[in-house]
Amino acid sequence: MKILVLGGSGIVGETFLEKANQHQLLATYDKNKINSTTVKTFQIHLPDDSLKIEKIIIDEQPDIVINFMAYSNADFCEENKIKTHDLHVKNTKLIVTMCTKINAKLIFISTDYVFDGEKGNYQENDIPNPVNYYGETKYEAEKIILNNTNNLILRTSLVYGSSTKVRFLNFVLDKLINNQEIYAFDDIFNSATLVDDLVNAILKSVDFNVVGILHVAGPTCVSRFEFANIVANIFKFNNKLIKPVSINTAKFKAQRPIKPCLNTSKANKILKMRFSTVEEGIKQIFEKENNTIH
Ligand SMILES: NC(=O)c1ccc[n+]([C@@H]2O[C@H](COP(=O)([O-])OP(=O)(O)OC[C@H]3O[C@@H](n4cnc5c(N)ncnc54)[C@H](OP(=O)(O)O)[C@@H]3O)[C@@H](O)[C@H]2O)c1
Repeated sequence: MKILVLGGSGIVGETFLEKANQHQLLATYDKNKINSTTVKTFQIHLPDDSLKIEKIIIDEQPDIVINFMAYSNADFCEENKIKTHDLHVKNTKLIVTMCTKINAKLIFISTDYVFDGEKGNYQENDIPNPVNYYGETKYEAEKIILNNTNNLILRTSLVYGSSTKVRFLNFVLDKLINNQEIYAFDDIFNSATLVDDLVNAILKSVDFNVVGILHVAGPTCVSRFEFANIVANIFKFNNKLIKPVSINTAKFKAQRPIKPCLNTSKANKILKMRFSTVEEGIKQIFEKENNTIH
């Protein structure tokens, strides 16, 4: 298949490009150049380059377009609403129109932040009710994506992996290596997802031509405090450095949903796969990085 990856330089995009080499790959980046000899790349900054996106889609005629482009920092979105609306909503409208025109399938990566987090264990047919602008614009985009019944929305959560771009895991490791204390929230929870599992799920969704909405996330509904403790135990650091703290002490611009954890039983069945628990995921990363961290 010919796959156009929009946002190939982010955490998920870069892992996708590494693992999807059975496909013909094209990818866009904005500030972080993609170094690859096999992927045809394009520099795109939205909203300025929206005509360039149209041209790439028309010229290249991909079978599938996967959109990883987003402002993934909820506080940035809260403070930059016009930019966020342009990238998440206006740009989605354009891409849906272009994909429909050339009969390409569009896969959109969405988030557990579309939910308010009151109930937890959300299924695909639960009604979203976002509590911040990031979630609001991702939900608005989802509704546009579903205008074409061939499209797919994959909702995921708290993605981690060995990339240096993964913020929370790298923050925890940096602090623990330097024997410094960490204050981690013990009262907000997410379905932490190993990026390799997420990419496998995307590839299987392509193979099985899945449409509609699917939750693709890890099975552990974990707080940042629990996550940091798992990291300390597996990497054999001193977990007494990790102190629990309440989200109520944080001065974030964007409100956080308390427990937007995702139920993935539909994905397990349709994609015939099992997502790694946080222990399993961190062990995999530890085994990969063991030789470089002392
Ligand atoms: N990471 C998570 O924990 C998480 C959780 C739930 C859902 N998601 C969703 O998963 C998708 C991928 O997330 P990610 O973590 O891989 O995001 P990321 O690391 O922040 O990457 C975002 C991508 O979008 C590109 N981009 C950002 N602003 C742009 C602009 N104005 N014009 C053009 N391109 C732009 C970036 O390019 P450059 O890097 O080259 O500037 C990068 O390729 C997103 O849709 C996100 O909402 C992520």
